[in-house]
Amino acid sequence: MAEKVVVKSLYKVYGPNPTLAMQMLSAGLSKEEIFKQTGMTIGVKDANFHVNEGEIFVLMGLSGSGKSTLIRLLNRLVEPTHGQILLGGNDVAAMSKKALIELRRKDLAMVFQSFALLPHLSVLRNTAFGLEVAGVDKKAREIRALEVLDQVGLKAFANQMPAELSGGMQQRVGLARALAVDPSLMLMDEAFSALDPLKRTEMQELLLQLQKEQQRTIVFVSHDLDEAFHIGNRIAIMEGGRIVQIGTPDEILRHPSDEYVRAFFQGVDVKKYLIARDVADREDTLVVHPSSDGRSDMTAAIEQLREAHRNYAFAVDTDGRYQGAVSIDSMLQTMAAGHRSLADAYLQEIAPVTQAMALKDLIGHIVKNPFPLPVIDADTHYLGAVTQTILLKRMAHEEADHE
Ligand SMILES: Nc1ncnc2c1ncn2[C@@H]1O[C@H](COP(=O)(O)OP(=O)(O)OP(=O)(O)O)[C@@H](O)[C@H]1O
Ligand SMILES: [Mg+2]
Repeated sequence: MAEKVVVKSLYKVYGPNPTLAMQMLSAGLSKEEIFKQTGMTIGVKDANFHVNEGEIFVLMGLSGSGKSTLIRLLNRLVEPTHGQILLGGNDVAAMSKKALIELRRKDLAMVFQSFALLPHLSVLRNTAFGLEVAGVDKKAREIRALEVLDQVGLKAFANQMPAELSGGMQQRVGLARALAVDPSLMLMDEAFSALDPLKRTEMQELLLQLQKEQQRTIVFVSHDLDEAFHIGNRIAIMEGGRIVQIGTPDEILRHPSDEYVRAFFQGVDVKKYLIARDVADREDTLVVHPSSDGRSDMTAAIEQLREAHRNYAFAVDTDGRYQGAVSIDSMLQTMAAGHRSLADAYLQEIAPVTQAMALKDLIGHIVKNPFPLPVIDADTHYLGAVTQTILLKRMAHEEADHE
């Protein structure tokens, strides 16, 4: 597999005397000690990793762990104190300002949490902005902008102003603007964090779908476990400026490298005896009941989901048997199509698993699954559902109980 980005011994010191801070680091002083003695902050400490061409590489960690610093070092929005950043073989850290500007324009795009759209420009012009700056002529950049707006589902909104769009749509414009320059590397810092859970899942799906078609290299910062697991081919976990572990979601779950990582995924590999029934949750998942004639008040179900901030609900009949899963969108679409039966809104993507499924198989299942998994017994009775979050919470709890 070709390596798109290679980072070697990369450091960032924030403060007036980085040389001193670097000496203190070599002398073995910690980030905390250096801060106490000098007021300087070690943003990133000795980062070494590579990102493969076509992969989504997620940087994850608590607030202040250095994620934004590290991703910004890659395009030198933050100047490195020490180390190398090889991009397609060229060292970004050593590049002239001119070469850097050229690179940012043509081959690197960044998407931020705040959408950063220009309020006085139309969606089309916002999307074409990078191309305009790069000197592409009007006709060509409009064609390209419409093409990428189409990819993010916003072609019809090209002539609207940003303020006329919802937050989710504005972030789609942000994404389209980044895509417009056809970058081989995209840097996304908490790009979906400002969105509500539904919109966020939608954007993750959109990104994965675009990724299937276009296979760009993406570095994505997230502090959200579900998001990291869902979209990441590999994940780097950061703590105090260091990368403490890099691996696929599955590898990290099964073999957390130290206590810090383990705290994220407590006890997963020692719980080999757990089965799906043990982790199925009824409290954190919503159940709806179709009436006996198969009809149901979908409006009420939608309300229920909204109120509970849930993305999905499970339909269970009066005998407690699992019928199907619905989302707000699936019900809205069903109603818009003139159907009245809840069954018409069942999502094909969500299939139940049986209660006896071993935890390790369940993890394999759930790591790449954006949906909650309903769990049923041999008579198809609904026992609850499992999501990545429920699974991890539940196992952290088990661990604590057994210590
Ligand atoms: N411009 C700056 N000047 C001084 N210190 C900074 C600067 N930017 C970041 N830091 C410090 O560097 C460390 C890493 O910050 P960074 O913003 O990279 O963390 P993060 O993981 O992105 O956090 P969050 O999840 O809150 O966005 C923190 O201790 C922070 O206070
Ligand atoms: Mg940050």
